[in-house]
Parts: sequence; structure tokens; C-alpha cells
Amino acid sequence: MKKFRWLNLTALCLVLVFALGTMVSAAVGGELEIFSWWAGDEGPALEALIALYESKYPNVTVINATVTGGSGVNAKAVLKTRMLGGDPPDSFQVHAGQELIGTWVVADRMEDLTWLFEEEDWFDAFPEDLFGLLSTEEGIWSVPVNIHRSNVLYFIPDNLEKWGVEAPGTWEEFLEIAPKLVDQGVIPLSVGENWTATHLWESVALSVLGADKYSDLWAGRLAWTSPEVIQVWELFGEILEYTNPDAPSLSWQQATDMVVEGQAALNIMGDWASGYLSVTLGVKPGDGYGWAASPGTTGVFMALSDSFGIPVGCPNRENTIAWLKTIGSLEGQDTFNPLKGSISARIDSDLSKYDLYLQSAAQDYQTDRIVGSLAHGVVANERFMNDFATVMDIFLANRDARAASNAAHVVAVQSGMAQ
Ligand code: GAL
Repeated sequence: MKKFRWLNLTALCLVLVFALGTMVSAAVGGELEIFSWWAGDEGPALEALIALYESKYPNVTVINATVTGGSGVNAKAVLKTRMLGGDPPDSFQVHAGQELIGTWVVADRMEDLTWLFEEEDWFDAFPEDLFGLLSTEEGIWSVPVNIHRSNVLYFIPDNLEKWGVEAPGTWEEFLEIAPKLVDQGVIPLSVGENWTATHLWESVALSVLGADKYSDLWAGRLAWTSPEVIQVWELFGEILEYTNPDAPSLSWQQATDMVVEGQAALNIMGDWASGYLSVTLGVKPGDGYGWAASPGTTGVFMALSDSFGIPVGCPNRENTIAWLKTIGSLEGQDTFNPLKGSISARIDSDLSKYDLYLQSAAQDYQTDRIVGSLAHGVVANERFMNDFATVMDIFLANRDARAASNAAHVVAVQSGMAQ
């Protein structure tokens, strides 16, 4: 009799386990559309993350919806149309900071994820300053998948040696070596399309203003029309004299290629270029390529973070929650970041999985002063970014520093970032 009762209990447990299992897989199943600009050369890290997700949730088919174009120039326009048209993807790539908060959160388009951070025990997993970019008083709005550094100078050590120059530690040094490179038929600094000029501009601004004033500019405490900011544009103009004339037609990868192929000496790009160099081109950090903080910014880490959240009204919410759990996990971050060329957003990652460059970036992130990137959504909202692209276009054509400062001031006021 006793034995019979045990058998009944076992059968009941089995039924329960089966029923629960069915409930979970019924909830997580179907499709999951992940929207980003990580296409082509930028794809391997995301593809690895999707493969990890699919191994955990085999009932879900992931639609990897990408729109090419560095820094999301094209993807963000498509996303805007979809979001405003009531057709949000299940989750989309968005920069922590103003691109998330000042664009989608203020418009009430994101779900609060505080409960998920509690459930997954994530409050101690990510650095405190990152929470400042993910949250408002009302909630936490996305899950960070990485931390990128934007102020990185790239070069090929053997080439610099051949040309008899050293990687410049300041812009003064750059302006000294630049004519020497030009005399040898080498472009001193490669640049690509419009957004890469803004990317260069933020590094120049950081070097001229220093970390405090750079941050004051975004907090509305330093006027765009102040002499220091005009000086940023002036120096930026001088630097542009030593860049490639075909910049507007080049992607960031093509600007990096110019350095690898020995047509240009230097390039300033975010550390996704380190991923491109080592994963796509097979040029490894150290022997293959060299790096340093962009001139005049040693000791400062200009940071940005790619993240994903739950857009209000997304079609497959349960699948999205599973996606966020995957990308926020230690396994997810250590799968994605070594291929992406970014450091993990988590503080407990296994650094032995990361290459020499990324180990040095992880070290700098611990000790450097952290400031936020302009070109990659940390310090300015999308309204500012769209109009700043026009200010940049005009400056690239006329090189008028005062006019650019005045125009940027108007843009800052119109986008609610200055008075
Ligand atoms: C940034 C993004 C990086 C990388 C880069 C180039 O905005 O945060 O992950 O994709 O653009 O496209």
C-alpha cells in the first residue's frame, strides 16, 4: 500500500513537471525580432549571442533584423518610423543615456525593467555609473550588453616607425608630425562619413575642454558660444586639413582599412574597430595594430553602452524577456564582447576570454575618469543629434568655427539641452 502511494506521488510530480514545462515553453516560443545596425562586418558578436539564445530557447525563431550603417545612422531612422507607426520590434539596440532616456523613455515608449533587475540579481552585477544612464526616478529602462570606449587612436606600429613618427600624445604633436607624413604621401588621419567626423569632434572637444568642462557643456553649464567651444571648432578645422578628401563617401571600416593598408597613419574610432581589426581582418592587438587614448585625453575614458529593452506593445514580450535575461547574463556578455571589441558591462566577467586591447580597456575603465560619448547617444538626445549632423555638414564645407558654435547653440536650445 505504502509503495502504491509513493508511485501515485511520483506520477503526480511527473505530471506537474510536464505541465510546468509546457507552460514555460508555451510562453517562450514563436518569433523574436531583434533590431540593430550590427550587420555585415559588425555581425559576428550579435550572431554568437543569438546562437546562445537559440540554444537556450529552441522554440523561438530569432529574426535578426539589421539596417546597415555605422552608429545606426540608417537604423535609427527606420526605428523611428516603426515606433511612431505602432510597429515596434520585440527589442532594439539603443545607447544607454540620452538616446534611451531623452528619446524613448520621455515619450513613454519603454517598459520599466526594475522587476527584472531584481529577479536576476543585477543590482550588483553592473557598475553604478551605468545605472545612471539606464534609469530615471521612475524606473530602469534597458539592459546593457557592453561598454565601448570611443576615444581610441589606432595605428600600425611598423608603419609609424617606417615613416619616422610616433603616435601623438597631444594635438600639438599631431600637427607637428602631420606635414612630415604628407611629404611622404601619407594621409595623417583618416576619417569617414559625417558621423565619424562627429566622433572625431567629441575627442577633440574632450582634449580642449578637459573632462569637467566637456561634461558642463552637456549639462548646459558651459555655453556653446563660449571662447573654449569656439576653440574646439578651430582646432577641429586645423586637424581636418590633414584628413582624406574622400571622407564623406567612406564607412568607418573603410577609414580603418586606410590605416591597415598604409594609406593613412592614424584613425580615431570607438573600440568596435578593435573587433573589426582582430575578428574580421585578423590584425591582432600589439604586434598587428597599436592603440592609445586619442590625443590629449589620456586618463579619460569616453564611454558608451549598447543596450536593449522592451518597447511598449512589442509583439512577443515573453521572448523579449528571455532575450534580456540572456544578454545580461555572464555567459551572454562573455560570448558577445570578446567578438564585439567591447568590454563586458558586468563587473564579474572572465578577463582571460578577452584580448590584449580589451584587457587594457577593462583596466582603464577601472581607473580612468569616465565621460559620455556625444556621437553614440550618451550625452545628447536624438533631436540634438539629428540637427548636429547638419551643423557638422555645414562646418565640413565652410570651416567657420564661430558660425558652427552659434548654430550648435540654437540646436541645443531647441532640443531642450540648453537655455
Ligand atoms: C556605435 C555602437 C557600436 C558600433 C558602432 C559602429 O554607435 O554603439 O556598437 O556598432 O556604432 O557602428
